Amino acid sequence: PITAFLFDLDGVIVDTAIYHYQAWKRLANELGFDISEEFNERLKGVSRTDSLDIILEHGGLTLPDEEKTQLAAQKNQWYLELVSRMTPEDILPGVANFFSQVRKANLLTAIGSVSKNAPLILERIGLSDTFDAIIDGTKISKGKPDPEVFTKGAAELGVSPAECVVFEDAVAGVEAGRRGGMFVVGLGSPDVLTQADLVAPSLEHLSVQEVLDRAQAVS
Ligand code: BG6
Ligand code: MG
Repeated sequence: PITAFLFDLDGVIVDTAIYHYQAWKRLANELGFDISEEFNERLKGVSRTDSLDIILEHGGLTLPDEEKTQLAAQKNQWYLELVSRMTPEDILPGVANFFSQVRKANLLTAIGSVSKNAPLILERIGLSDTFDAIIDGTKISKGKPDPEVFTKGAAELGVSPAECVVFEDAVAGVEAGRRGGMFVVGLGSPDVLTQADLVAPSLEHLSVQEVLDRAQAVS
């Protein structure tokens, strides 16, 4: 049976995905090129250092490590300026209602985010004490699409991967959940999240029962 739901944070619970994009775009512009929204799909769910490598390759730049460290820090500073204004009102529509169904169903919950800023964001939006486990970018050595963030989440909850459902807005995150042996709900466009087991525009468009029915049908 399904006993646990593992949630990505950025783009699933809160719309920080747009802030990551704005900060990376600003960095690319300063370096003399641009990134599109379509290109940005490749950055979603990917760690800070891996994202920078993908962006620099896109711009045709090869830079020494010290400079890359500085650029990553600059991007994070801009990102934090955007995030610092966040409040519980920034929680995405449907999340509160979905979580109350999750509690009624007695499911275990975890955050599986490669962001080192995840604890800060959870605090800003008032959800620090909502989850049974929080795996963030400081607890993992490999970012998505590696499954580590989700397999660690399952381990911390004391459940097997087959008992877990992953909720993801990113191509890399969907792949991570699938490689971890979990049922994956993609939140976004079915044209983008082609590897997900089930796709909906957002948590607002899903019920817990519907997810459990679909996940248990394939297990
Ligand atoms: C993920 C985001 O959750 O965290 C990525 O989807 C981001 O866009 C990654 O690069 C790392 O985040 P941070 O906050 O550690 O730079
Ligand atoms: Mg995400």
